[in-house]
Amino acid sequence: MTANSTSAGDDRTLRLEIGSDRVGRVVFDRPDSPVNLLSAAVLHRIDSLIAELESRIANGQLVALTLESAKQGSFIAGADVGEIGEVRSLEQARAASTEGQRIFRRLERLRVPTISCIDGTCLGGGTEISLHCDYRVASDNSATRIGLPEVRLGIIPGFGGCVKLPKVVGVQRALDIILSGKPVSAARAGQIGLVDRVIPHHAWERGTREFVSDVLADRVPKATPRLSFQGKLLELNPIGRKVLFSLARKRALSETNGRYPAPLKAIDVLEQTYGVRPDEAYPIESDALAELLVGDVAQALIRVFALSQDAKRALPASAMAAARDIRRVAVVGAGVMGGAIAELVAANDIGTVLKDIDQGALDAGLRHAADLLRKATRARVFSEEEAGLKLARIDGRLDYEGFEEVDLAIEAVVERMMVKQQVFRDLEGVLDPEAVLATNTSSLSVTTMASGLDRPERVVGLHFFNPVHKMPLVEVIRGELTGDAALATAFRFALGLGKTPVVVADRPGFLVNRLLGPYLNEAGHLLDEGVSVEAIDEALLEFGMPMGPCRLLDEIGFEVALHAGREMGAAFGARLSPPDVLDRMIEDGRLGRKNGRGFYLYENGKSTGIDLTLDSLFPPAAGGPSGDEIRSRCLWLMVNEAAWALEEAVVDTADQVDLAMIMGTGFPPFRGGLLRWADSEGLGQIVDGLARYEDTLGTRFAPAPLLKGLAGRDGTFSNPT
Ligand SMILES: NC(=O)c1ccc[n+]([C@@H]2O[C@H](COP(=O)([O-])OP(=O)(O)OC[C@H]3O[C@@H](n4cnc5c(N)ncnc54)[C@H](O)[C@@H]3O)[C@@H](O)[C@H]2O)c1
Repeated sequence: MTANSTSAGDDRTLRLEIGSDRVGRVVFDRPDSPVNLLSAAVLHRIDSLIAELESRIANGQLVALTLESAKQGSFIAGADVGEIGEVRSLEQARAASTEGQRIFRRLERLRVPTISCIDGTCLGGGTEISLHCDYRVASDNSATRIGLPEVRLGIIPGFGGCVKLPKVVGVQRALDIILSGKPVSAARAGQIGLVDRVIPHHAWERGTREFVSDVLADRVPKATPRLSFQGKLLELNPIGRKVLFSLARKRALSETNGRYPAPLKAIDVLEQTYGVRPDEAYPIESDALAELLVGDVAQALIRVFALSQDAKRALPASAMAAARDIRRVAVVGAGVMGGAIAELVAANDIGTVLKDIDQGALDAGLRHAADLLRKATRARVFSEEEAGLKLARIDGRLDYEGFEEVDLAIEAVVERMMVKQQVFRDLEGVLDPEAVLATNTSSLSVTTMASGLDRPERVVGLHFFNPVHKMPLVEVIRGELTGDAALATAFRFALGLGKTPVVVADRPGFLVNRLLGPYLNEAGHLLDEGVSVEAIDEALLEFGMPMGPCRLLDEIGFEVALHAGREMGAAFGARLSPPDVLDRMIEDGRLGRKNGRGFYLYENGKSTGIDLTLDSLFPPAAGGPSGDEIRSRCLWLMVNEAAWALEEAVVDTADQVDLAMIMGTGFPPFRGGLLRWADSEGLGQIVDGLARYEDTLGTRFAPAPLLKGLAGRDGTFSNPT
């Protein structure tokens, strides 16, 4: 397939090369970008290229066509989400979908075999264009992931993915892929028939050439879905299919609590288009996509996606230039957080030293890391062999041997200033003078921790959230002494781990824990008033929080929560002072989930329900606040605290607050974020409500000046005017 002619494709985004063997290669190569995207302009290019291909085929100049990418580790990353976010009307949405479908179907009708050669990430539109090829091959590169993640943006595949995927892999697997939004590996794609051949990465060029020859020699049978016996029983008769769709609906409803319409819509589309002629099926998909896309949930989710993309560029290129390369990391303290951080670092193939002062703690930390890697293997993130290699990257130690090789040390020792300062002083003695010192503290001052060191400018906060492998947020804390190089290094390191970094100022509680403070405190005040744990947690679950505040306190642990609460009470006074609920719980021998006794009871780590004996600690009272009132009290205080934090420049923008709360606490993404939600409620209403509560319940409700100012001039957080 050596190229001897290049044509219409001089546009660098997409080029056509035709070899002497008359095999054409369409190569995607978006300029100045690590990935290919299917923007409207690229689709338009594909369309005109197809016109040229049709005429070449008619003239006998082409016998087969491959789709390829010139990007390392990336085939096509999907549609351009920026463009999707700009669609405002049903008509626009439907037209965009119909246009994509038309072009892909035109590709499908080419009268030569078409082969999509997938080496790297292949998502959304990338998968849809591949599904319209006659064949697909994938490299076993670990970067190869094939999926349709649209439901995560609140939409469904709209370029024919819903129509084509069930034909290729069967209904059940198509539902799995579309409803989960999770991409599959090349090996899995091979097993389920999503690709026709998996080719070893090291022999990719040769392997794809051989595949094309095999196709031309009629040696590759046309794929049909590879169904198990049970799969056939269910899928190949109408009653079985009804069962499949109805089970999928039940599951989707319970997983989304009815909050996210896209999975249910996807099920409808798959059901309505099954066995239907393409001319009828494709419009069903377009209509459904359009309806979702203009809805509030999709708009909120697309915004959150855009915010997370913007977050990656929060530091300008000039600042990022100061970032150090990280080849070796030390994690000091092998507890709950240290073990998990070491696992995350090693999972990203970075050499890691995990150090503790106690052999038992070190062993437990290493076991924790091994467990997490095992879980990742079960979830098919890595193979067992890969997990073994990653675990071997963690070097457990009780001493500082080898620390001179370390580029970044992260301390995750007990939350005590003196201990942390001593650890930093010890590290200064053994690390390279350029190495960065990071602290995972959740409540102590990064500035105080750094002061007294010879080189305080290399100290920065890297605040991971628990559980580390699940929570996407990392607060990168700029202490008053933190230098640009340390900040940029920490930021780039967090990004490299696949996390969403948000730069925050060194104020007590930083951002997320500070905003959680009044929210959790209010749950305590409500308990004191005789409101039940159930009523409080239900009210917030109903709002969409991943767990209620009482459950969250159980998870955090009462000692940790009390410590953090006191720090914030000391810093911010009555507004953030914790009620004495936690003291009473601790006095009663309850520590939260970790000792099996909190607001809920736990056996073998599993919750067995609310502890009914709590009534003696918090006698129930009749006629308490309604669910709406409970929600308002907890959430308005959070909004109010966000206004205080913005005023103190803890972060620069309301968007950063929204992103951090979603990524760090699971604030419901379909609400668009805390402050976007507040805007939609009306800031005037929130300020009035806070003022009413201030009169009846106390000064903790006093509206923040910034919030009052915005409400007073009819502004919003997103548009302060
Ligand atoms: N647990 C959480 O949910 C959470 C979340 C975010 C941040 N944090 C922060 O992370 C840090 C660690 O928290 P954790 O929950 O993992 O604590 P932990 O008590 O589980 O672990 C602390 C570990 O540090 C070790 N240690 C103590 N002194 C040491 C020293 N001088 N050198 C090396 N090791 C030492 C202990 O033996 C222990 O294994 C704290 O600063 C905490 O505030 C915790």
